[in-house]
Amino acid sequence: MKKRVVLRVNGEDHELFIKPNRTLLEVLRQDLHLTGVKEACGIGACGACTVLVDVSPVNSCITLAVDVEGKEIETIEGLAQGDHLHPLQKAFINHHAFQCGFCTPGMIMAAKALLQRNTVPTEEEIKKALSGNLCRCTGYVNITHAILSAAEEIRKSRDAND
Ligand code: FES
Ligand code: FES
Repeated sequence: MKKRVVLRVNGEDHELFIKPNRTLLEVLRQDLHLTGVKEACGIGACGACTVLVDVSPVNSCITLAVDVEGKEIETIEGLAQGDHLHPLQKAFINHHAFQCGFCTPGMIMAAKALLQRNTVPTEEEIKKALSGNLCRCTGYVNITHAILSAAEEIRKSRDAND
């Protein structure tokens, strides 16, 4: 039987009628057409489906959509402001931090969660924050450099606004 839920995604409420056994990943991709969130392993092992729920990274493939009603859900689609990319998005481009790009939305969301609580992360802290996100293409050096660079950018713009 379907259940009414209201999911708040990227700052907008969406009323949906869904079966309680559907994952957040399925609902984001199939019902809300937010296809930036990717499915790879489907069992919580690779991080491709990472989104933020109340600022924490979660694997949306093993999260039931009905369980995140009333929470703030963020996907990669919510990062850019119009034509202005988020510092992490710019840094991933500038540092060649992806090849096929399949892992990238999940990587960026996990990195966003880290930078929201720590804008001066060490390489070790970045590795730990991304330990649940796998990349089959690039290795992790450029990804780490991109996150360090985005952190610097975020600090600069925060200092400029103080
Ligand atoms: S697709 Fe969700 S963790 Fe791999
Ligand atoms: S860029 Fe291809 S899996 Fe990471």
